[in-house]
Amino acid sequence: MHIDRRERNFILVSIVIILIFAVSILVSSFVLGIQVPQSPVPLGRVNPNTVATPGVSPWGDPVEERFREVAPNEYEVYILGQVWTFLPNRITVPKGSTVTFYITSKDVIHGFNLQGTNINMMIIPGQISTLRATFDTPGEYQFVCNEYCGIGHQTMYGTLVVEP
Ligand code: CUA
Repeated sequence: MHIDRRERNFILVSIVIILIFAVSILVSSFVLGIQVPQSPVPLGRVNPNTVATPGVSPWGDPVEERFREVAPNEYEVYILGQVWTFLPNRITVPKGSTVTFYITSKDVIHGFNLQGTNINMMIIPGQISTLRATFDTPGEYQFVCNEYCGIGHQTMYGTLVVEP
């Protein structure tokens, strides 16, 4: 089979580029230890049909127990999205606190946007969305559902209060 010289060169260059990419991925992952971000806890997925059942998951705990201090100034909160509310929908932390949000939905797709921060997640039934943020400025931060989720979508919001 005859392959034009320039065409062959282009094929060789393409193969070399692919090899460079493959080697850089392997080096960054195994030598430099760069990994895609992973949810610290809990890992994996939840069953949206049972996620709100007591004893099955943290989202089945009573609402007031879904927000806890895990270390000095370190909090975690398990928020359940459902039509058309977040539970819990009012969280109070002292200034300087770091909060890790674990959010899931038991019915349809919702959104979670914490105003004044870069926290903006899709809340998908069966998936756990997680982000963490540190709050150094006292004030009230509203969080809203920003995915249209039905006739009561506009009532789906809550407040994170950062106390001085
Ligand atoms: Cu939930 Cu819009």
